Amino acid sequence: MKNNILLFVLVSVLVTELFSSCKHDIPQPLIILNNGNNGIGNGNVSLPPCNSDSIYFDEQIAPILVSNCTTQGCHNSISHIEGIDLSSYAAVMASDVVNPFHASSSNLVKSIVTNNPGDVMPPSPSAHLLIAQVDLIKNWINQGALNLHCDAGCDTTYVTYSGIIAPLMTNYCNGCHGGVSPSGGINLMSYADVAVFAANGSLYGCVSHDPFWSPMPKNSTMMPQCKIDQIRIWVNAGAPQN
Ligand code: HEC
Repeated sequence: MKNNILLFVLVSVLVTELFSSCKHDIPQPLIILNNGNNGIGNGNVSLPPCNSDSIYFDEQIAPILVSNCTTQGCHNSISHIEGIDLSSYAAVMASDVVNPFHASSSNLVKSIVTNNPGDVMPPSPSAHLLIAQVDLIKNWINQGALNLHCDAGCDTTYVTYSGIIAPLMTNYCNGCHGGVSPSGGINLMSYADVAVFAANGSLYGCVSHDPFWSPMPKNSTMMPQCKIDQIRIWVNAGAPQN
């Protein structure tokens, strides 16, 4: 009898364990939305940690393309010159300018590295892409032109101009808001320039899509929430030159 009770207890424990492990340990499917809002550090889906060997489209490639190629009259969803729209992953892939695993035969790469000054993209007077940006695009294509997502965490404790805000401007804004004729006459290349728009509220207003200001980056999805938070934190701290 004692043994039976023991067995019963053991079986009950096992069954309970089994059920509870069913409840808690079923791996959740990885939900990845392709709307560009679930990039690095967004924190609203469970993403794998970032791998420094992989290139992430929304985080690393999209800002370069949006900033340099989707200006008004160029390769955006409204004025897709020559049928080429570079404003999102889906649009890039549908535009047939990328040959996965073969950067050198991809028209996207050919157009930015051509030696013929009349054909090079973006056309003059826009500046050429930086060598590091061209290399990133080539490597992304050679890795298969994937749309990977990862979670790099979000540093909101130490948001400096030099460490976080300036690189963010380079990636997301300066293709339009830099060079000889910056979009809207707004230059965001230096601390002094950015500080003006931090002070009048438009910097955070634009990136957080406050209806009072124009939504930025123009013709693109919102930046990942982490970046928007970092801009808010820096602006609220008085936009210091740190
Ligand atoms: C594809 C080009 C493009 C990109 C990328 C872009 N902008 Fe703009 N931006 C414009 C144009 C064009 C205007 C002026 C016309 C308008 O308001 O739409 C403008 C206007 C602005 C204004 C003034 C808005 C207002 O309502 O007065 C601010 C501030 C601004 N941009 C900030 C940014 C920031 C910050 C980024 C990067 C996160 C960025 N922009 C990325 C094209 C761009």
